[in-house]
Amino acid sequence: MLRKLVLFTIAGAASLYALRVPETALSAESPPPSMAKFQAVGELVRDKCMTCHTRDYALPFYSNIPGIRHVIEQDYKDGLRAMNLGDEFGETTLKKPVNESTLAKMEWVMINETMPPTKFALVHWGSTFSSQQRSLVLDWVKSSRAAHYATGTASAARSNEPVQPLPASLPVNPAKAALGQKLFNDKRLSGDNTVSCASCHALTKGGGDGQRFAEGVRKQFGDINAPTVFNAMCNIRQFWNGRAADLQEQAGGPPFNPVEMDSKNWEEVIAKLSGDAALAQEFLAVYPVARHGGGWSGNNITDAIAEYEKTLITPDSRFDKWLKGDDKAISGTELEGYRRFKVYRCSSCHVGKALGGQSFEYMDLKKDYFTDRKGPPLGSDEGLKSFTGKEQDLHKFKVPNLRNVELTAPYLHDGTATSLDETVRIMGTYLSGMEVPEHDRKLIAAFLRTLTGEFQGKRVEGEAVPF
Ligand code: HEC
Ligand code: HEC
Ligand code: HEC
Repeated sequence: MLRKLVLFTIAGAASLYALRVPETALSAESPPPSMAKFQAVGELVRDKCMTCHTRDYALPFYSNIPGIRHVIEQDYKDGLRAMNLGDEFGETTLKKPVNESTLAKMEWVMINETMPPTKFALVHWGSTFSSQQRSLVLDWVKSSRAAHYATGTASAARSNEPVQPLPASLPVNPAKAALGQKLFNDKRLSGDNTVSCASCHALTKGGGDGQRFAEGVRKQFGDINAPTVFNAMCNIRQFWNGRAADLQEQAGGPPFNPVEMDSKNWEEVIAKLSGDAALAQEFLAVYPVARHGGGWSGNNITDAIAEYEKTLITPDSRFDKWLKGDDKAISGTELEGYRRFKVYRCSSCHVGKALGGQSFEYMDLKKDYFTDRKGPPLGSDEGLKSFTGKEQDLHKFKVPNLRNVELTAPYLHDGTATSLDETVRIMGTYLSGMEVPEHDRKLIAAFLRTLTGEFQGKRVEGEAVPF
């Protein structure tokens, strides 16, 4: 009892101190409000949370107490895997807005009061957050979301949801996009003229191919599931392991991938394309030779394809209509599903306009997925590590977006999950660390089916996965 009292007193004193926003934060340059709030939040986080959420930690003094060291070390390990706060909260000023998924995770732990872990708070006096401090963090999340991620189309009451409506369209250069559409569908990008981008990313199949692994030239199969091209522009990087920075860089990959399109080099592709008089005329009108960097090149081909991909956006799903204020757009069951989607932490990772694409996460975060999964290991299981070469990135994957998800089965990088129910179960066990009972899985799947949007004014085409 005495301990508890001391704990609250110290925590109280610390919170008063931390709530004082330093004058410098509101100095002459007058940073946006979210940035000013970050200063105070950053101070709090560095003071109370960083120990378990950064790579270079120092064990606290009491870690020598028998029995405690082991517990603390496990918390450090798990804490860092769940969330690396060092990158974004290590500095006193921000170079870029805090990641949208980080915001959602901070919001979740503040609402659910799970951080710092109870057993740590018991031995580390003054480590808990007061309700005032939690409000401070929540307020900062809200203003950061509004400043950097909101589309401005959600109703006022729903504007601070972790999921945001997709914009109706993005600005594009129409001539470039029209050319890009032709190239996206052009089989001459492949060595033997049999495969186009659209072969594996069919707009009639939810932007994917409906297969476990994609089929390339000469009936070859890779070892990774083809993600949808719809809304891929929302991803912070491209590919499951993030090896392409953006859509343009991404489009330069498949043509020379031996199991996908297997062309030798751009010269080979350009020799074929430039021999097509109609295409050449259109291409050179968009990229005139006289202009710097103009004329035929791999750079311009991928530039056009990327421009076209910016048009592959699917707004106006029923859920978006609900976000915009139409209460009748989704049923009570579906709304309950969305609530569970937030409770089970799904929205911490499947966040934002596309419900994903904002962060890389361990597929074995809470439990060893790869040991439990049947079948031999796949080369693609390495995930982010295959791109960065860092051991700490083993089994990390870019969070896939969940727009039109009922049309894009099978699921996961390994294409092993064939139903929404199975996928939601796997997510609960391995990513959220909470078993999702069947009743809740049904509700969540019902919500996921409200995410099917429209492409050019018509419902996105594809085969919906059975219930
Ligand atoms: C004693 C170590 C420890 C301290 C101190 C600590 N954490 Fe954690 N943190 C963990 C562990 C372990 C996990 C993973 C288990 C879990 O999510 O409950 C975690 C997970 C998280 C997550 C990810 C949750 C998600 O939904 O993915 C966030 C965000 C987080 N912590 C924020 C904080 C904040 C903010 C503080 C300071 C108030 C804090 N942590 C203090 C150990 C710690
Ligand atoms: C043989 C089938 C195949 C062909 C052809 C193909 N892709 Fe893909 N695409 C895939 C697979 C498989 C992946 C995932 C690969 C990975 O992440 O390592 C992928 C990934 C992508 C992504 C990343 C999406 C995300 O969420 O990260 C985009 C965008 C994309 N492809 C566009 C294209 C374009 C543009 C072309 C034509 C230049 C093309 N693809 C040709 C199968 C194919
Ligand atoms: C810690 C982050 C995280 C949490 C929490 C999380 N997911 Fe995921 N989700 C991922 C990642 C990463 C993948 C891809 C993993 C892979 O394929 O190896 C994924 C894949 C999926 C897929 C398959 C999408 C596709 O196109 O293949 C669905 C559906 C999904 N999650 C739904 C959910 C639901 C529902 C919840 C909550 C019960 C949830 N996720 C919780 C990160 C997360």
